[in-house]
Amino acid sequence: MRIAVLASGNGSNFEVIAQAVKEKKIPAELVLLFSDHHDAYVLQRGQRFEIPCESFELKEFSDKKSYEAALLDVLKRYDVELVVLAGYMRIIGKELLTAFPNRIVNIHPALLPNFPGLHGIKDAYEAGVEETGVTIHYVDSGVDTGPIIAQGKVQVAKEDSLADLERKIHQVEHRLYPEVLAEICKSDEK
Ligand code: GAR
Repeated sequence: MRIAVLASGNGSNFEVIAQAVKEKKIPAELVLLFSDHHDAYVLQRGQRFEIPCESFELKEFSDKKSYEAALLDVLKRYDVELVVLAGYMRIIGKELLTAFPNRIVNIHPALLPNFPGLHGIKDAYEAGVEETGVTIHYVDSGVDTGPIIAQGKVQVAKEDSLADLERKIHQVEHRLYPEVLAEICKSDEK
C-alpha cells in the first residue's frame, strides 16, 4: 500500500507513522509527505526520514478548487493509494474525495461526534468533560463526520491543565494511529 501523509504543522503523528513504517509495523510504503505550509516543522521531520516532501499553499492559487487539483496531481504522480491526514487543517474537497473513496483517513483529538472542528482538545477541556479522547475515521464531505474506525478514551482529572490534557491526548494518538493504519494496510493485503 502506497501511503501519503498530509500535515499542516508540528507533525508528531507523522513522526510515529514514519517510524512504524520504517520498522515494518505498518506494511506500507510512505511515498509522500505533503504540507500546505512551506515552513511547517513536519517537513523537517520528513527530510530526516528521507521521505519525498512537497508543499504548496492555498494562497498561491486562484481558488481552493485549483489548489485541490494541484494536490490531486501530486498524489497521482506518486501513485498514492491511501491518504493519511495527520494534523492537516483543511476540509477535503469533492475532487479528492471522489478520487479516493474511503481512502482518506483522519485523526481527530476528541470523541466524535463530540467536539468536531479545529480545537477539539480545548473545546472538550473548556466544556469540563470528565472523559474525552481520540477518533480515527474515514473522511467524507462533512467536518469530522465520516465513518468511525477506532476511538481511544482519555480521562480528564480535576487537576489537569489544558497542557496536561494535550499531552494525554497525544499519547493516545501516537499509540492508536500506527495501530489502526497497520490494520487497514494488512486488510488490504488479503
Ligand atoms: C493532532 O492532535 C490531531 O489530532 C489534530 O491536530 C494535531 C496535530 O498534531 N487534528 C485536528 O485537530 C484535525 N481537526 P501533530 O502535528 O503533532 O501530529
